[in-house]
Amino acid sequence: MSDIERVCKFLEEAGTYYLATVEGDQPRVRPFGTVLLFEGKLYIQTGKVKAVSKQLAANPKAEICAFCGGKWLRVSGELVNDDRREPKAAMLEKMPALKAMYSADDDNTQVLYFSNATATFASFTAAPETITF
Ligand SMILES: Cc1cc2nc3c(=O)[nH]c(=O)nc-3n(C[C@H](O)[C@H](O)[C@H](O)COP(=O)(O)O)c2cc1C
Repeated sequence: MSDIERVCKFLEEAGTYYLATVEGDQPRVRPFGTVLLFEGKLYIQTGKVKAVSKQLAANPKAEICAFCGGKWLRVSGELVNDDRREPKAAMLEKMPALKAMYSADDDNTQVLYFSNATATFASFTAAPETITF
């Protein structure tokens, strides 16, 4: 399994992660759960109407954190908007519950992928492991 696959699998197993953005000098954080590996990139999904989307448009720097099985993962980097239909459709196929609210062809659905990402796996019992993608 590649490093980015391990990151994706950890986020899937955790189920919920917390996404931090910045608004001016104020950190903003909220629970997220969408995750998809598409064309070798780690994608998340949101709605363009949300404050989180507007924050990322103004400043793409973001960090996520998840905790699962005694380990935690942080991924920091930039979240890049991808307006192509294909990754949106792939996200909705992977997470069909989203189809109740989103479609690949609406004006709201947004997928973004991590660029210049640094991921760190950590635990209380082992040295941190850092990977980049
Ligand atoms: C467990 C859980 C998972 C969630 N996953 C997502 C997600 O993947 N994408 C999303 O846009 N909102 C998701 N939400 C809803 C957001 O947390 C919520 O809309 C939040 O208010 C968005 O942040 P904002 O208000 O700063 O825009 C999730 C909520 C919960 C409780």
